[in-house]
Amino acid sequence: MAHEVRIDPLGRSTTCPAGQSILESCLRDDIWLPHSCTQGTCGSCKVKVLSGEVDHRESSEYTLTPAERESGIALGCQATPMSGLVLEPVEQVDPDDGVPRHPLRDHTGTAVVLDDIARDVRRLVVELDEPMAFNPGQYAEIRVPGTEVARQYSMANPPSETSRLEFHVRRTPGGIATDGWMFAGLAVGERVELKGPLGDFGMPVAQEEPAILIAGGTGLAPLKSIVRHALAHDLAPELHLYHGGRSRQDLYDVEFFEDLAREHPNFGYRPCLSEEDWEGATGLVTDVVLADFRSCRGLSAYLCGPPGMVEAGVKALKRRRMAPRKIHREEFLDAS
Ligand code: FAD
Ligand code: FES
Repeated sequence: MAHEVRIDPLGRSTTCPAGQSILESCLRDDIWLPHSCTQGTCGSCKVKVLSGEVDHRESSEYTLTPAERESGIALGCQATPMSGLVLEPVEQVDPDDGVPRHPLRDHTGTAVVLDDIARDVRRLVVELDEPMAFNPGQYAEIRVPGTEVARQYSMANPPSETSRLEFHVRRTPGGIATDGWMFAGLAVGERVELKGPLGDFGMPVAQEEPAILIAGGTGLAPLKSIVRHALAHDLAPELHLYHGGRSRQDLYDVEFFEDLAREHPNFGYRPCLSEEDWEGATGLVTDVVLADFRSCRGLSAYLCGPPGMVEAGVKALKRRRMAPRKIHREEFLDAS
């Protein structure tokens, strides 16, 4: 049964269909609520239930503690209404922050490119039947055909290309979406179902300070979108992109970024290898950043990749005195 959900401070309401999460219903109705992973692991979508009952479904005790549940907190991306609800987001929403918001929609398209671009990494390009507006840094949830499984993949193309989405996918051994489909049966010409846009990572509006962008593996995808958008619209005075891998086999789009650096004097690109000596930067990507920047005061950062790399990067930037509110992160958490 559908239930009415009112978001108190915004004065907006959505009718949440049976089985749909509060967050999904809001995003489909163009009501923006803070969120990141949409799979119950990051905790950024917490809402305070002011009246009514929710079903917490799969919410884990790690993300939503028993004490939080007791006090009426719920995960917007997991909880479904059991009655009419009034709630407010725990993290404040500023409707006048200038960031464009795009409603969540279901999309269909065709896989038009499927290339091996690095060790265990494929570039998948999907030509959509209908355009999808999104902000640089956001992601889509791609459905594995014939299953109820859907996985998140960040758009690597700039938001000016609304009908042709580029994804960088790393193979997870034994993984349902990757090993079982994108690196197995998926072929060019196949129909693809996805929904998006999702997530709040990125640089959709101009900033005054230079930015450091740190990617591990396919964490490069959203940063490629951000860099292309930011350079096209002059969003930041300087951009310094670091891409970490173990060896040369892990790097990709090197020529693309080298060309971009030649065209834009305010853009720097540093691929870093942790397990191979070469003519470029050697060491963990976060150590290379530490060596390049004696102080990060007054700068901002965008980090994306495996959780361990993102944690190490955040620590490194704080050691160099970057203000915590200037550090933006996206972790490629798996669904387990
Ligand atoms: P699953 O079937 O989910 O996992 C199979 C097994 O492998 C499980 O035991 C699981 O615990 C383990 N496992 C899963 N992932 C990992 C891992 N990373 N390291 C070690 N063990 C693991 N991935 C990309 O390649 N490109 C992207 O642009 C991208 N964007 C993302 C954006 C967001 C917001 C999030 C949350 C994740 C993103 N991911 C991205 C990760 C992606 O969504 C999947 O989690 C990943 O592709 C694995 O899916 P799977 O179905 O193949 O593996
Ligand atoms: Fe809900 Fe991450 S826990 S968006």
